[in-house]
Amino acid sequence: MVVKRAPGAPRRVTILGSTGSVGTQTIDLVARDPGAFAVEALTANRNVALLAKQAKALNARLAVVADPACYAELKAALSGTGIEAAAGPQAVAEAAARTDADWVMAAIVGAAGLEPTLAAVRRGASVAFANKEVLVCAGALMMEEVKAHGATLLPVDSEHNAIYQVFDFKHPQRVRRLILTASGGPFRTKDRAFMATATREQAVAHPTWDMGAKISVDSATLMNKGLELIEARFLFDMPEDRIDVLVHPQSVIHSMVEYVDGSVLAQLGTPDMRIPIAYTLAWPDRMETPAQRLDLSKARELTFEEPDLERFPALRLARAALQSGGGAPTILSAANEVAVEAFLDRRIGFLDIERVVEATLEALPHQRLGDLEAVRATDAQARRVAAEHLGRVRA
Ligand SMILES: NC(=O)c1ccc[n+]([C@@H]2O[C@H](COP(=O)([O-])OP(=O)(O)OC[C@H]3O[C@@H](n4cnc5c(N)ncnc54)[C@H](OP(=O)(O)O)[C@@H]3O)[C@@H](O)[C@H]2O)c1
Repeated sequence: MVVKRAPGAPRRVTILGSTGSVGTQTIDLVARDPGAFAVEALTANRNVALLAKQAKALNARLAVVADPACYAELKAALSGTGIEAAAGPQAVAEAAARTDADWVMAAIVGAAGLEPTLAAVRRGASVAFANKEVLVCAGALMMEEVKAHGATLLPVDSEHNAIYQVFDFKHPQRVRRLILTASGGPFRTKDRAFMATATREQAVAHPTWDMGAKISVDSATLMNKGLELIEARFLFDMPEDRIDVLVHPQSVIHSMVEYVDGSVLAQLGTPDMRIPIAYTLAWPDRMETPAQRLDLSKARELTFEEPDLERFPALRLARAALQSGGGAPTILSAANEVAVEAFLDRRIGFLDIERVVEATLEALPHQRLGDLEAVRATDAQARRVAAEHLGRVRA
């Protein structure tokens, strides 16, 4: 159930992952137009200082940290403000379930976002959807929930947001294929010998987008494009063999839809996540953003190339997981989360990420996951197996 807004009343929003890269950019847009938005709840994992600052600045009703150990600090930071404080994964999901907010930003990173996103979907909210790992780990089941509860998923990922803007939902049979563009990441022109010794700092230095650490590493391996391929398959109900990936280093064309008559429609813009976030915040309307305007007369060139699956096997692994079906995407994403975390902690090398993912996919059966319980169990099992493989690649 979602509380209906009176005409002209501010849109009441909840931001899951408000302290992250997508979360802070959402806050930036909301704070620029205080008459248009009111904040119900904000959530973070452990960043109490920023969460409390955001909650006070936007006069949120509730602030939640996922880590229960941070509760006392949050409570103290909010004392005397009247803002409710809560902690724990269950409290994050309860924040998402609060019916006063008709719009929820799902910007938690990783499968930790599954329960809160589900809670927002199950009450039929408009969900601005950044947390791609949720659709990768539970795609078909999540889309069934969206349908059953009349929720609206508004894609935030710039590629899927671009497709959403030009996709003919009334006549999907007119669409021949989707073309996801990819910047190619920081190692687009590097060889495998370079990548073998790549550091955390080199991997997170994305050439066109400023993002959180996990998605930045995913962009460097091209696993991010693989996760997006799986996300697109479920969001747009498009078979895997009709979704192509094209490397476009300037990140101006954010993705394309090819129609049966040969027309190709695209959405373009400067690489600023506030543009797709604003699209979802104002939907079905449009709103102003401070993003730099696109001036094509100054864009010296727009170039395109095929992704190199030899140098970037993660994209191949993701496509193979989607073809294999069943729990394979769940395993892929869980193993990738474990491996990327280990790389960010400097426990394994950059190329070990793909090794851990591949070994985990090989070690486990890809059976059909009939319900969310099966998804959770497969995710947990894949994390255990991936953790074992971390030890082996290190040896
Ligand atoms: N960044 C981008 O430009 C971009 C673009 C497209 C899609 N996305 C997708 O959007 C999602 C968020 O990305 P991001 O770059 O914004 O990530 P990020 O900067 O790492 O932020 C992640 C957010 O999730 C919170 N969080 C982390 N672990 C949590 C847990 N176990 N339970 C509850 N909350 C948790 C973090 O809280 P703390 O701050 O307390 O750790 C933070 O608020 C990802 O799925 C990513 O793939 C991001």
